[in-house]
Amino acid sequence: MSAKPRVFVARRIPDLGLDMIAPHCDMEVWPELLPPSPSVLKEKVNGCVGLVSLLTDRIDGPLMDAAPGLKIISNFAVGVNNIDIPAATARNIKIGNTPGVLTEATADIAVTLLLAATRRLWDSAIDAREGRWFTWDPRGWLGQDLSGRTLGIVGMGRIGLATARRLHHGWGMKVLYSARSPKPEAEKELKATRVEMDTLLAESDFVSVHTDLNADTKGLFGAAQFAKMKPTAVFVNTSRGPVVDQAALAKALREKTIFAAGLDVTDPEPLPKEHELYTLPNCVIAPHIASATVDTRNAMARICAENLIAGLTGRPLTASVN
Ligand code: GLV
Repeated sequence: MSAKPRVFVARRIPDLGLDMIAPHCDMEVWPELLPPSPSVLKEKVNGCVGLVSLLTDRIDGPLMDAAPGLKIISNFAVGVNNIDIPAATARNIKIGNTPGVLTEATADIAVTLLLAATRRLWDSAIDAREGRWFTWDPRGWLGQDLSGRTLGIVGMGRIGLATARRLHHGWGMKVLYSARSPKPEAEKELKATRVEMDTLLAESDFVSVHTDLNADTKGLFGAAQFAKMKPTAVFVNTSRGPVVDQAALAKALREKTIFAAGLDVTDPEPLPKEHELYTLPNCVIAPHIASATVDTRNAMARICAENLIAGLTGRPLTASVN
């Protein structure tokens, strides 16, 4: 029997991370594309000291109880809404995440979605591909202008700030934001103004969501919020799907209460193929790819491995959540 601590890695993260972890433990890696079911995960963690989890794995108290020796849960993500943090803390289990390294890649996707939705890249490209490019149409595929418009950032953390930087410096946008506390860096560098949510919704041409998912932000965007936005407004979400009431968003897009939306996150994920949002030409949906670049995923793998290895031996994590 191996004397090394057992570790279950719930998906094939980049080799860089697996190669770092392997020498430190008796490692089992889940080989499938799809996540292990909750019952399989429960079986797999039995006897484990460490777990590498993904945002698609629900890590709750009963799961933790299936692994009484568990010391470290290293989440391969910056968001940790898939983990019951108080339950882990109560059991003396450390949680690690991967902040910082995916900030720029995520901001790039927020801007990509904003541009694609605003300039109708999505429906016009589909029209071209499917034979509906009949001529250069003076009234066809009209989007909205970007330069000098107003950007509303909801949640001015690292990713919100990186998104605002791109759009302020690149397109000269005026920046409004809503956040729990003032953000002096954004105010100084971008002349950003902290406003009440209602003001942000009414005055912004673009609303980009960067808050984490918690009890206060679940359902933050519903019918009332979309009704307050401009009919020309574009809504972008790269945070978590449940921050948005999707039925209300679909209605707002269908009835043109707002102009368009770009989503990298949905609820559930994957969003079922038959979901109404896919049928709306003014909604661009990406399959949660914000951190999906080679370098970013490698950087996440490195921090994830560092957290795991540190947690196995009781040393401070590179990035600790609790
Ligand atoms: C991705 O959504 C992450 O939280 O890292």
